[in-house]
Amino acid sequence: MWEITSADLREQAYQNSLDNPEAFWANIAEQFTWQKPWNKVLSYSFSPYHLTWFEGAKLNMTENCLDRHLPKHKDKVAIIFEPNNPKEKTKKITYEKLLQEVCTWANMLVQEGVKKGDRVCIYMPMIPEAVYAMLACARIGAIHSVIFGGFAAQSIQDRLLDATCTFVITADGAYRGDKFIPLKENIDQALQAKTSVQKVIVCQHSHSEVFMQKDRDFYAEPLLEKYRTDFIPASSMDAEDALFILYTSGSTGKPKGVVHSTAGYMVYTAYSFKNVFQYQDGDVYFCTADIGWITGHSYNVYAPLLLGATLVLFEGTPTYPNPSRWWDIVEKHKVNIFYTAPTAIRSLMAFGDEPLKGKDLSSLKVLGCVGEPLNQEAWHWYFEKIGASKCPIVDTWWQTETGGILISAMAHISPCIPTYATKPLPGVQMVLVDEHGEVLHTNPASGYLCLAFPVPSLLRTTYNDHARCEQSYFKTYPNLYFTGDGAQRDEAGNYRITGRVDDVLNVSGHRIGTAELEDAINLHPKVLESAVVGFAHPIKGEGIYAFVISHEDIKTLGAEIHALVQKQIGAIAKPDKIQVVTGLPRTRSGKIMRRILRKLAQGETEHLGDTSTLVDASVIDAIKEGLLM
Ligand code: WT7
Repeated sequence: MWEITSADLREQAYQNSLDNPEAFWANIAEQFTWQKPWNKVLSYSFSPYHLTWFEGAKLNMTENCLDRHLPKHKDKVAIIFEPNNPKEKTKKITYEKLLQEVCTWANMLVQEGVKKGDRVCIYMPMIPEAVYAMLACARIGAIHSVIFGGFAAQSIQDRLLDATCTFVITADGAYRGDKFIPLKENIDQALQAKTSVQKVIVCQHSHSEVFMQKDRDFYAEPLLEKYRTDFIPASSMDAEDALFILYTSGSTGKPKGVVHSTAGYMVYTAYSFKNVFQYQDGDVYFCTADIGWITGHSYNVYAPLLLGATLVLFEGTPTYPNPSRWWDIVEKHKVNIFYTAPTAIRSLMAFGDEPLKGKDLSSLKVLGCVGEPLNQEAWHWYFEKIGASKCPIVDTWWQTETGGILISAMAHISPCIPTYATKPLPGVQMVLVDEHGEVLHTNPASGYLCLAFPVPSLLRTTYNDHARCEQSYFKTYPNLYFTGDGAQRDEAGNYRITGRVDDVLNVSGHRIGTAELEDAINLHPKVLESAVVGFAHPIKGEGIYAFVISHEDIKTLGAEIHALVQKQIGAIAKPDKIQVVTGLPRTRSGKIMRRILRKLAQGETEHLGDTSTLVDASVIDAIKEGLLM
């Protein structure tokens, strides 16, 4: 069953997926183009962790995204490109043209020396060339590692080194709103260390002057002219070959490279896209996520193209040149399905109704959100003002590691409940466990959210470090994949995600590890130590509160820490509040009691819980005095 078109069918599909998961997924997989069929649908173990789906099969992702839609959809628009500056022209790229571009890019990569299995870094603005580059990698079997354009040189360097990338695809620069992002310059800085990068391909986009290193840096345009072609055959990939690496933050150390497979990822993203949004042939779909995040990979590029959809690719920001921008785009292109993040909804809500005046949003049928809990107030605003009280809101819960949406309502099919992601999709077995790892079987319940059975798009490993993958996801609770989230389940079995329970912050839907941030702050010569926690923030969801031990005056230190974080990680990780303290609350074993810091950062100074294991309780009084509220 591929199309789930009623509540009954959803129930039935869910039951089928429990009774016979392999048959369930095989049935869905038959929708696709395979160069060779699979021998076995699934084999797996959670301890030690190994997972294969559709073993023995051969396929190519781009054949499924592009070739199979031709000739029927040859003239259908695949990508509507909306540039940052609304005065510049919208571009429409048909499926036929997209295939030609991808083949030209693929040809260029091959001729310039990229081989199957090589890692290619893509550090690009949200322009069609970014999509061409991703798909070109997939066409020739290179593994892309897209790095979000907001990351700074140090973060780029860490990722280039970890994945031993041999090629970088970037642009000279780009504007986001009126802010210039010096992409090439950031790459140059990242390449100051010794890396395995041989060539840097530079798209001319901002036409700003950039440094070009001889024999290393090449402008894309002349190369593309040289290698222009209408077609090159798609490479034959194994089902389990890696499609891409995407770095994400964990509770310890440096970001980890989440590795996604080809076949399982393809099947799951297409299936979830089709059914969650109830995508119909002809719908215009607009997902605002940057390709630097998993949402951008799964639901801005791969899934919509797998369905042969028309997608809107928007380079800019929701508030440039004014906070009507998204609504202008919805009106202009008659968008039917709109998918965004709660933080964006809240920040637009703060502008009031003025930006919506006179905007015709009547084309909208389905609204979606992802990244963090969507609070009541924002839910209602989104529902009433954007969806005219007629569009369901699918609140989709998932993670970089799951590759696709695991818990969600299906638009017009199953009920949407404010602040609830609702139910696991058919094929998805979620459970809640208590602190001892005991599965909670009754409703209502509240506990830690785990996955009890693999989905096809679950991460296969963390690049070059399988032990870390096992440690991070499969060791906390035996025979379960642990998400890192806490959740509640109501009487009817609907899930409500309450947020991360590990040391990972969710700031404007961006995942930031507190350890990573502390490492960056601690690089400051005048910082002895630091502890970073989150606090409830009205727009960002979570704000960053840094407690730092230093003998320095905060006036200069604060600005220096900001500059440091911006340079090490990127502007998205800048602390909202920095408090200089003389000490941090520690247990006898030296562990910082973050639980207490979290309460303090929240303004809770009375009910701090058990403080009996603290070495020196007086540090708390000192912290309270300087608390930044
Ligand atoms: C974390 C994953 C999946 C793409 C964007 C984020 C939080 C995600 C929801 C939701 C409440 C959500 C979780 C999750 N999260 N969606 N609908 N309701 N929380 O991907 O960076 O891998 O972050 O985002 O805490 O673990 P990510």
